[in-house]
Amino acid sequence: MPAEPELRTPRLLLRRWRDTDLAPFAALNADPLVMEHFPAPLRPEQSDDLADRIDAGFDERGWGLWAVEIPGTAPFAGFIGLNPAVFDAPFTPAVEVGWRLARAHWGRGYATEGALAALSFGFDELALDEVVSFTTHRNTRSRRVMERLGMRRDPADDFENPNLPDGDALRPHVLYRLDRPTWQRNVAPAAR
Ligand SMILES: CC(C)(COP(=O)(O)OP(=O)(O)OC[C@H]1O[C@@H](n2cnc3c(N)ncnc32)[C@H](O)[C@@H]1OP(=O)(O)O)[C@@H](O)C(=O)NCCC(=O)NCCS
Repeated sequence: MPAEPELRTPRLLLRRWRDTDLAPFAALNADPLVMEHFPAPLRPEQSDDLADRIDAGFDERGWGLWAVEIPGTAPFAGFIGLNPAVFDAPFTPAVEVGWRLARAHWGRGYATEGALAALSFGFDELALDEVVSFTTHRNTRSRRVMERLGMRRDPADDFENPNLPDGDALRPHVLYRLDRPTWQRNVAPAAR
């Protein structure tokens, strides 16, 4: 297997997943507040399956949703990274930037800091032309991260997430986009 890229920021290490991440990942996925904007908290076996799928993505591509370590503070705080969005929607296929952190690590700027490193990887290493992010209308915490990253929403891009059933209150989603010129002009200087 080729050396996997690890991403470092002033406070974070974004790295490949370890078996020891599974228990704290199951704990955060069982937290109703962390999972407020998803259909339901995950059972431990669902959480383990998700970690396995994420890890398999690293084997396939060498990048994905990195495990977040906060050196000196927490060996595992959640994930931040890039994920292929391949479901049926007007903007797909695309690469999404995403994040999920344990509640104890909210309100410190970690999601934005790690996502900037993931965006650098996407634009500078993968040479992507655009990175997207999406969530439910009411997920204001996540939308604030997208806005802090310089991502922009056009309401004309709002979409129904086909992974959720018709009529589900979580199905309507907002889409935020960041294109390469905007990244280079406005966002990259803050990430370097
Ligand atoms: C979405 C999520 C990652 C956002 O976490 P967050 O802590 O609000 O976001 P950031 O890490 O960017 O932190 C920003 C906050 O930290 C504060 N902050 C404190 N110290 C800071 C620092 N040194 N640098 C930057 N911000 C700092 C900011 O003021 C800001 O607070 P505010 O939003 O109340 O103004 C988190 O709520 C989460 O994991 N939610 C559950 C999963 C989820 O919904 N994921 C997204 C699905 S699409």
